[in-house]
Amino acid sequence: MNYPTPHIKAVPSDFGKTVLMPGDPLRSKYIADHFLENPVLVNNVRGVQGYTGTYKGVKVSVMASGMGMPSIGIYSRELFCAYGVENIMRIGSAGAIQPHINLKDIVMAMGASCDSNYQQQFHLMGNFAPICSFKMLHAATQSAEELGATYHVGNILSSDFFYDDDEGVPEALNAKKNWQKMGIMAIEMESAALYLNAARFRKNALCICTVSDQLVRNEFLTAEERQTGFEQMMQVALETAVKLEK
Ligand code: HPA
Repeated sequence: MNYPTPHIKAVPSDFGKTVLMPGDPLRSKYIADHFLENPVLVNNVRGVQGYTGTYKGVKVSVMASGMGMPSIGIYSRELFCAYGVENIMRIGSAGAIQPHINLKDIVMAMGASCDSNYQQQFHLMGNFAPICSFKMLHAATQSAEELGATYHVGNILSSDFFYDDDEGVPEALNAKKNWQKMGIMAIEMESAALYLNAARFRKNALCICTVSDQLVRNEFLTAEERQTGFEQMMQVALETAVKLEK
């Protein structure tokens, strides 16, 4: 793949080895402004802001993924294949579907189950299990312990549907309930595509999410609470990026 790519206008040296990926471009700017030292804007194609700066002396980048698997699929592939990025850590939000997982908890996706067709491009005669990088997960759990964050490690669901139409659907076919029975911790919309690209291109990926919605109890974070929950996840992500450099 040549660079610049269709969706990122930069050169490989513009990015650090590790890129943190929130979904929202404005969040990317917030992270750069509040957590990175000397942040420089390295991409702004389609307003998808990417910044590179340092954290505790380590070169770290942050760039938005947009929403959904097609979007993170494009950005992660371009970063892995054209810009020499080794580690991508998605830092998102998710809706918990297990009663013991509470608002503001962090979920770390060891595996990303999915209801999309993204993996069909790899022409596998079966189902690939998208999993995270153990090295990144290990560093992230260590960081969460050090920071005293409440976290859960397990399987999540990357779904194509934020709004799913279950009107008139019999109980036995309720997708959310059935994923819940399989022990899925929470639902988000990007990780499986990220993990599949990392597997295909021999790179490292991890998704950590703050629980913004408790879908069993219909509880939702306020905008202010989202921000505080998010700040703790950011600390975990940045400390993880530092550990990956060692
Ligand atoms: N579904 C999908 N993605 C999400 C949700 C959800 O309920 N909450 C936060 N991200």
